[in-house]
Amino acid sequence: MTEAKIKELVAQMTLEEKAALTSGEGPWMTKAVERLGIASMWMSDGPHGLRKQENYQEVKDINDSLPAVSLPAECAMAASFDRDLLYRIGTELGREAQFRNVHLILGPGVNMKRSPLCGRNFEYLSEDPCLAGVLGGAYIKGIQSQGVGACVKHYLANSQETRRFTSSSEVDERTLREIYMKAFESIVKDAKPMAVMSSYNRINGTYATANKYFMKDVLRDEWGYEGCVISDWGATHDRTAAVAAGTALTMPGVNETDHEVSNAVKAGILEEKDLDTACEQILKMVFDGLEAHREGVTPDYDAERTVMREAVEQSAVLLKNKDRILPLQEGSKVAFIGGFAKEPRYQGGGSSHVTPIRLSNAFEACEQLATITYAEGYPEAAKPRLLVGIDLAGDEAQKEAERRSLEPDEKLIAEAVEVAKASDVAVIFAGLPELMESEGEDRKGLDLPPSHNALIEAVAAAQPNTVVVLSNGSPVTMPWIRNVKAVLEMYLGGETVGEATANLLFGRANPCGRLPETFPMKIEDTPCFLFFPGEGDSVPYQEGIYIGYRYYATKKMPVLFPFGYGLSYTTFVYTDLRTDTKELEEKGTVRVSVHVKNIGKVPGREVVQLYVAPKGGEIKRPVRELRAFDKVYLEPGQEETVSFTLSPSDFAYWDTGIHGFRVAEGEYSVLIGRNAFEMVLGEDISCQKEINLL
Ligand code: BGC
Repeated sequence: MTEAKIKELVAQMTLEEKAALTSGEGPWMTKAVERLGIASMWMSDGPHGLRKQENYQEVKDINDSLPAVSLPAECAMAASFDRDLLYRIGTELGREAQFRNVHLILGPGVNMKRSPLCGRNFEYLSEDPCLAGVLGGAYIKGIQSQGVGACVKHYLANSQETRRFTSSSEVDERTLREIYMKAFESIVKDAKPMAVMSSYNRINGTYATANKYFMKDVLRDEWGYEGCVISDWGATHDRTAAVAAGTALTMPGVNETDHEVSNAVKAGILEEKDLDTACEQILKMVFDGLEAHREGVTPDYDAERTVMREAVEQSAVLLKNKDRILPLQEGSKVAFIGGFAKEPRYQGGGSSHVTPIRLSNAFEACEQLATITYAEGYPEAAKPRLLVGIDLAGDEAQKEAERRSLEPDEKLIAEAVEVAKASDVAVIFAGLPELMESEGEDRKGLDLPPSHNALIEAVAAAQPNTVVVLSNGSPVTMPWIRNVKAVLEMYLGGETVGEATANLLFGRANPCGRLPETFPMKIEDTPCFLFFPGEGDSVPYQEGIYIGYRYYATKKMPVLFPFGYGLSYTTFVYTDLRTDTKELEEKGTVRVSVHVKNIGKVPGREVVQLYVAPKGGEIKRPVRELRAFDKVYLEPGQEETVSFTLSPSDFAYWDTGIHGFRVAEGEYSVLIGRNAFEMVLGEDISCQKEINLL
């Protein structure tokens, strides 16, 4: 529908109808205005598959949704470092939404992983805004290519679950611009999501939903956003302030406060033109969604599961592979140890939870490939389990009791050791049960359950060929890392995780994921350790721009595994880095190319990572920052030239004096790294004059 037609419709609405339109119909719909032929549109979570709760006007159980393919969680998708793959995953999700008559998908989440303890990190992409922006944008484009809208969330500075409904993220201007706003900025400008979700928290004292500076001045006026801003579910505290600030739609529906908006207009507190603008934005979204709906789209679950299996294979991160113990020999005698082998932890808890179509597990998927024996290894409580009900944080006393049951069970460990000793190799399936990682609360620490750690230590002491397969949504410590031969990080791989794990373990697929976040040695090392999760409702982001690897690399601190890290069953070499600065003066762009060659024996994918490092200058900056990346597939012996074009913003920092990005005059290194800590090639370039990007 044209803009003019929408304006005409809004002009025909009564004040009460307009006020009512700014809150939804129940949990998942917008309100219809039948008199004017305005129908409702439907929205559903979320980033990890479609969570359509069709039968409820009221949400009773967050886990009760129509079956849908459970996708790899965002933590896993991000580890692929592959924008084409995220686009493909997005198209599959868009198709399922068309099939289920859903017009808007509530996701992806692109918040920065400020602390590895954030309970919702599995639902976010990275600690790096470049990676999150590029991948989040590709995912949104994939969804929207199917005529379904995406709602990027949770804008803004929403990086913890503790006191998530009331806390205020206290963040300085430069940190907001360079880190916390950056992914949203690139996504809004480039992928143009149908909606943006304003977050639960406050930013520098003002609730996001009522924060005119971020919702209007920046989002619309500066970044040119033309879509609809929707509150997170229950995040609006003041209906009038939300409309005035630019949060057009409050979700879920709260009919009982609709009159506040119309009364505010009558009392002259809210300008009617602000209400009209909100209605125009909502109607544009509604009509765009309804008009793009296609009848008769049916899912092909088998084909979709194949895409997802490949996606998981391309997201798994090989963290260690001593003596090239992986891939395992087909036909060998392998002990599978730990309940996750049969009952995988494959998705995160909370609003992104999906009812899968067909969940696979590694035990069954490997049975045809080798002689597999099995031992439980740890108690029932340490297996993946669902939190039920809508109280995401659950009953704290009950959970505390359950946590105690995560302690080691010596009998199960002894049985596992015997099974391990009788095999050629032991593969231990470990990770975080849902009890230790979920929406609604932050993690208590970085460790795996004690029963998992004790099991790994005991098995590794008895069987020199021990491999650990991890399923977790965020970094964990690995006190046993020196004692095991291999570690394969699967993150939360969705319903095809079993087949994918089998293919990776037995070399039918070659791991090519890279960590989208740093795995620190211990929680005390993390940049925000002293300030997370804040006191009272104040959460000072005192570490500033030094988030993730920006901190560890600048401080030259040892980490367990750096951002960008990951091994392969083959070997890649880099040569011939070239930088072309011909266009630097005129356009501010720099062309970069580098050769990559697969010198190993099997095909594989390599993630080429480009970092920019300022050389000196008086402004304090991270030692290097990821500015571009690409992923290439190479057969043995094959080589390729990978090219990038850097723009001025890739060299810029936020200057609080001019309130804009600025490139300082001086020298910069353009670096190709295997990860954020290991640079393999570099070229220096010189920028002769400063550039202001206002
Ligand atoms: C979550 C959102 C989600 C919404 C609807 C909220 O609690 O924060 O991410 O989209 O619920 O389920």
